[in-house]
Amino acid sequence: MSQLSGKERFKSVEGLDLSAVVAYGSTQGKTGELADAIAEGLNGAGVRASAIRFDRLSLMPNRARAVDILGVGSPVYYLREPAYMQKFIADLPPLDGKKVFVFCTTGMNRVGETLFRLRQALNERGADVVGAASFSAAMAYPPYRQRGLGNPEALPDAAVLAEAKRFGARMAQAPKLQSITLPEPSFATRFKAKILADLKIRKMLLPGVRLNTDVCTGYGSCISRCYFNALQREDEGDVPVLTDACIQCLQCIASCPRGAIEVDMRVKESLSTLMYRLGIH
Ligand SMILES: Cc1cc2nc3c(=O)[nH]c(=O)nc-3n(C[C@H](O)[C@H](O)[C@H](O)COP(=O)(O)O)c2cc1C
Ligand code: SF4
Repeated sequence: MSQLSGKERFKSVEGLDLSAVVAYGSTQGKTGELADAIAEGLNGAGVRASAIRFDRLSLMPNRARAVDILGVGSPVYYLREPAYMQKFIADLPPLDGKKVFVFCTTGMNRVGETLFRLRQALNERGADVVGAASFSAAMAYPPYRQRGLGNPEALPDAAVLAEAKRFGARMAQAPKLQSITLPEPSFATRFKAKILADLKIRKMLLPGVRLNTDVCTGYGSCISRCYFNALQREDEGDVPVLTDACIQCLQCIASCPRGAIEVDMRVKESLSTLMYRLGIH
């Protein structure tokens, strides 16, 4: 909790009234938990801050322009941020000189290119990126989770949330902080991320989903579960069609009450485990 109270609370940096928004993308909710903790840290340090999902913030673009400090957080998918985060940043109003920080959550502490790419995209929009952090969260990828690979379900625990809060408190000083540089990802990291981003290679190596049209009734719970808009249908009640936007995150499987979404090939689950052990993903 802040030691400050009342009006004082929002005048931490040399008497300035500061506001912040922590925008985040999240599929399983972990990045949202971390964003809340960061906002708490900012508030505790005297900055009026709230955490807002990126799609909600997209509906009020002037909010991102109006605040003094903008945070952008993303989960890591295949060593990068998901495409929706790049679109979100590209659609933001110009950020000329705005103090921005970036963060990400990881299920196996492999950040890959994520922070570097987020910083680059925000720099291109004119932002001054002054902070970056990554946080450990539960592994959301079912083939790894089932095999006990990656971080345990309990993360982020109190220690990780406290770390995020401290990061938020540090970012309350953003107006006084200098731009950061992040080391360029290694050749190996860039190579692995590029392979994993290739649709054909990914389909070949990693499990994907298949819709059993004999079982599907067109109920559509999978459509709202998919954050990548990969399941589309022409009319209400139609059986959805799986598009190339699918990133094979396998989250929709559990969403179908009829079990109509199946993993396409069990053998690929073992292949993905091998990739994990070899450090490819
Ligand atoms: C398809 C998929 C790919 C993932 N790739 C990575 C990765 O490259 N590195 C990593 O550390 N975690 C990876 N994860 C784990 C997520 O980054 C982690 O679970 C994250 O906390 C999810 O955030 P969310 O709950 O906000 O969606 C992956 C998860 C999924 C589902
Ligand atoms: S696996 Fe399912 S939830 Fe994940 S991207 Fe593909 S269609 Fe969407």
